[in-house]
Amino acid sequence: MVSTPAPALDNSGRQYLPTLDPATASPNQVLMPLTARANAQNHLEIGGCDVTTLVERFGSPLYILDEETLRTACRQYREAFRQYYPGESLVIYASKAWNCLAVCAVVDSEELGLDVVSGGELYTALKAGVSPDKIYLHGNNKSVEELSLAVSAGCTIVVDNWQELKTLVSLAADSETSETAGGQPIRILLRLTPGIECHTHEYIRTGHLDSKFGFDPEQLDEVFAYVSQQPALLCVGLHAHIGSQIFELQAHQDLTSVMVQWLSKAAQYGLPISELDIGGGLGIRYTESDDPPSIDEWVKVICEGIIRACQRQGVAMPRLIAEPGRSLIGSACVTAYRVGGQKTVPGIRTYVTVDGGMSDNPRPITYQSVYRAVVANKLSAPMTESVAIAGKHCESGDIVIKDAKLPPTEPGDVLVVMGTGAYNYSMASNYNRLPRPAAVLVNQGDASLILQRETVEDLIRQDRLPERLVRREG
Ligand code: LLP
Repeated sequence: MVSTPAPALDNSGRQYLPTLDPATASPNQVLMPLTARANAQNHLEIGGCDVTTLVERFGSPLYILDEETLRTACRQYREAFRQYYPGESLVIYASKAWNCLAVCAVVDSEELGLDVVSGGELYTALKAGVSPDKIYLHGNNKSVEELSLAVSAGCTIVVDNWQELKTLVSLAADSETSETAGGQPIRILLRLTPGIECHTHEYIRTGHLDSKFGFDPEQLDEVFAYVSQQPALLCVGLHAHIGSQIFELQAHQDLTSVMVQWLSKAAQYGLPISELDIGGGLGIRYTESDDPPSIDEWVKVICEGIIRACQRQGVAMPRLIAEPGRSLIGSACVTAYRVGGQKTVPGIRTYVTVDGGMSDNPRPITYQSVYRAVVANKLSAPMTESVAIAGKHCESGDIVIKDAKLPPTEPGDVLVVMGTGAYNYSMASNYNRLPRPAAVLVNQGDASLILQRETVEDLIRQDRLPERLVRREG
């Protein structure tokens, strides 16, 4: 699959219109969901639904998730592995990008597995009907309760450190738990820190040696020796993840040879290690200047790297696992807001305000992430204004987009920010006691509510007022 060009402005400076063929585009390379188009009223339509009408019906802010884009990304990953890897492979969705019942169910129906990082994500995945043998539990400080839940359900545990190894051994020794685990050894992978640097934001880099995640490869012999002595643990594989929003293929290519070296060492300890999980990390296009490789290119580099390294080292080809998050779901969703007012600071800038912000998308304030936006009800209007799109939170840094090109806006316009499928809802908060938005799954003209909008009642649901503070009349 060839690298596809970014959707551009049309000649008249109008707003982004998709210029890619949805049949061949790699979802991580598009600014808008694959089904985005302008309808007869020149309104933005996604999944066959007019975005302006969706906001009238479901309110704002609103996450609009395009099922076709998500399913296409799942299929492209699966098919690329089938094409480039002769051995067995499994794609598991890193559900930290967006974990809720409907998303788990869609991904599961595409035959992907699931990576979960907490008891909450695990509970949701199980409730969505995902089969435990396709669930991998991650985390650098899993609680005993989280481990017990995963073990008794029959999930695979990606062990991060010594403490966890020892907890698992004692859990297995605990007769109650081993009964719930069916007396079977606990299926584990070992997470290692590969010492590979990549160019991404410091906070989302995890593969360098100074990281809180995983065993240091220097300890590999010691860990293998320990694990090989534990009949309660069935160590089937090794895991590494180098970071997120990565555009260079080199880092992942380097990772394949490092991991196969570890694999060849495992044989010396008689460990039945047959799985390599190379993590996720493929980036997406948030702006025209972002140029990530396609899903197909990424998978090809990884498969070729593993095959080459296995041949070089005389190691049998492992079952290959990848766990992408952002590149599966990031471009499938947009967030629709209602425009409020404007404030112009003469000679400096104009602020256009929207009815959400850092509580529904904390990425700009956390990582200085840059997004693009369009006005859904004015798609044909030329983008003549340069403005800052400001959120409604009591914080100066709550700016959704610092330098946005928009047509002139009026209160009530529907402003759509693109590429909000990954790490938006999952990192959303109730800052300033804003209820979290609703989300709809759109497909061929149907819009199904998948997350109900929170209400003010939801906001105080967990509050408790001590008796002595209850205000009584008189
Ligand atoms: N596997 C592991 C072990 C991970 O830690 C992650 C992401 C993934 C897979 C999926 O990576 P992806 O394919 O999505 O790049 N909140 C940040 C991103 C944090 C990523 C954490 N780990 C953001 O909003 O950019």
